[in-house]
Amino acid sequence: MAQVSGSPDVPDMGRRQFMNLLTFGTITGTFVGALYPIVKYFIPPSSGGAGGGVTAKDALGNDIQVSEFLSSHNPGDRTLAQGLKGDPTYVVVTEDKAIADYGINAICTHLGCVVPWNASENKFVCPCHGSQYNSQGKVVRGPAPLSLALVHADVTADDTLTFSQWTETDFRTDNDPWWT
Ligand code: FES
Repeated sequence: MAQVSGSPDVPDMGRRQFMNLLTFGTITGTFVGALYPIVKYFIPPSSGGAGGGVTAKDALGNDIQVSEFLSSHNPGDRTLAQGLKGDPTYVVVTEDKAIADYGINAICTHLGCVVPWNASENKFVCPCHGSQYNSQGKVVRGPAPLSLALVHADVTADDTLTFSQWTETDFRTDNDPWWT
């Protein structure tokens, strides 16, 4: 500090501002440092890093156990789970009663409503403005401009389900994924 106040590089006019800046920086740094664990607490640990997989969680926040999940679901079911970044994501049960290798992000590509599965119509129908998506989440009626985003769904050796980013071609449209 003595060096700073005596430094010829700090003109008299600016010294006070400089000291204010130092003080402000110290306080801000302390504040941000104190805030970090609080902010981190509210970010779900499943957010993971970019491209990292997360364990799919059920409505109660528990990890989905695949064998148990399949024992209580039917072929063709689409069931909401918590996916990447906490996004509501459908787990798809195939016709031969396995977990499909893709999950469907439930957020409508129009204005972001969560789109419910309509089993009797075999499609997703958005309650907000009527957009429709087929059973794989491909948009079939607007105003939604795009299909629902995909994620990879994998069953791990310890019977849990993980979701990870889908960066490959969208198999429903043969286009690059719009969500990456
Ligand atoms: S938010 Fe789904 S149709 Fe508008």
